[in-house]
Amino acid sequence: MGEDAGGGPEFVVVANRLPVDEVADGDGQRRWERSPGGLVSALQPVVRQMRGAWVGWTGSAGDAPEPFDVDGMRLRPVPLSAEDVDRYYEGQSNATIWPLFHDLVEQPTHRREWRQAYEAVNRRFAQAAAEEAAPDATVWVHDYQLLLVPAMLRELRPDVRIGFFLHIPFPPVELFMQLPRRRELLKGLLGADVVGFQGALAAQNFLRLTGQLLGLEPKDDRVEVDGRTVVARAFPISIDVAEVDQFAADPAVQQRARQLRTELGGDRRLLLGVDRLDYTKGIEQRLEAYRELLADGEISNDDVVLVQVATPSRQRIAQYQQLRERVEREVGRITGEFGDVGRAPVHYLFQSFGRAELVALYLAADVMLVTPLRDGMNLVAKEFVAARRDEQGALVLSEFTGAAAELDDAFLINAHDTDDIKRGILEALRADPQDLAARMRHMREQVRAYDIDYWARDFLEVLGVPGAPGEARQAETATS
Ligand code: ADP
Ligand code: F6P
Repeated sequence: MGEDAGGGPEFVVVANRLPVDEVADGDGQRRWERSPGGLVSALQPVVRQMRGAWVGWTGSAGDAPEPFDVDGMRLRPVPLSAEDVDRYYEGQSNATIWPLFHDLVEQPTHRREWRQAYEAVNRRFAQAAAEEAAPDATVWVHDYQLLLVPAMLRELRPDVRIGFFLHIPFPPVELFMQLPRRRELLKGLLGADVVGFQGALAAQNFLRLTGQLLGLEPKDDRVEVDGRTVVARAFPISIDVAEVDQFAADPAVQQRARQLRTELGGDRRLLLGVDRLDYTKGIEQRLEAYRELLADGEISNDDVVLVQVATPSRQRIAQYQQLRERVEREVGRITGEFGDVGRAPVHYLFQSFGRAELVALYLAADVMLVTPLRDGMNLVAKEFVAARRDEQGALVLSEFTGAAAELDDAFLINAHDTDDIKRGILEALRADPQDLAARMRHMREQVRAYDIDYWARDFLEVLGVPGAPGEARQAETATS
């Protein structure tokens, strides 16, 4: 799509974070690094293909740099002061809305000054998007940090087409009702022309709330508001399958996978977890199940090893600090009770990795453990499947992820029930290789058919945007 004759971009994504984070090196130098999380993994290929602009925060408090270009995308930084980070990002977004939208896995905190900061920062994002977008452009707003932006943007720029996509779960009606200023949040979302969710139930909850809280009359997948029609539907998000497949086909990545296996103990079966260190991900429950299996003698340190990658996330928030302490204590306990000299039962990596190393880990794993207590989608599960061109490996997957609706050939488990996690792990470890291959084949068909291009095309078609992503790539494939 690129630039309009009037100068501004015709396709603008607005998200809390830019796809790159500004980080300080040990020697005080600043540099850019890929931002954490599924939103960036999913959206980056879309914005790149649409040659669009991305409005978001750099991840550091203070003044924002001037707009700059990365990888064919124009990035427009939005400044957040230290107080904004404290109140809007760590407070209202991640200590109020995040736990409440994840079914109260942790208790949300409600503070008036956080809500005020949230509103002020949402206005700043709306203003930046309004300045950035060309006349009649498409602006696609993302996630729970920016629920008020669609209505604010519509006020500033009635000419633009506005989409909104929520990457995390939308709560049941009775939980949403607990939120202070709940009507304003709903009205914020209703500023969009299309509101997208990960699942159908989420869209239904949203539409029901428009009736209950605002007296509107939703019908099927839409609701009329101020003479406009707002569509609310499920658009389950996915991954850049081609990118993962390319890494998985790379002989250097395959060699690295073999090396990892050798280093982790030759013929020991490898269990793998890859998550942001977040209390929604069920890491503690997974470790507990693993420890009990070792204690019961169902598995032994001679036969099995667990690698748990825990990406640092939201480290200044108390609940995340406490989680880290608990997880690290449990890792220490398992190592102490079941380890041997030179042979650890669990390798815990509190680090970020490059894509190639992550795919090498996926290829090395026998069993991938994805056990969130609640998760909008979970892209790690889809990445694991996309990486397994060898049709080997088992996926143990929580029913409480969006991904479970699509990957029902996984070993599905109730992540709130330690015994059920144990059952899932044992079934995966003991499964017949032919059964595993059949399951993996079905899951791969699903992931390949519904990749990130499909997701973006589906959403943008409903929004009425021409030139959807994927066309360029399809043309490339057809001519190659
Ligand atoms: P969330 O959005 O909650 O973080 P997802 O599973 O949907 O969870 O997405 C996580 C994304 O972050 C995936 O694309 C995954 O590859 C990436 N990721 C997770 N852990 C790491 C890590 N340690 N280093 C680099 N990327 C990571
Ligand atoms: O949708 C999940 C999400 O919250 C994204 O919005 C975000 O980019 C990612 O997880 C990582 O979280 P954070 O930006 O708070 O580090």
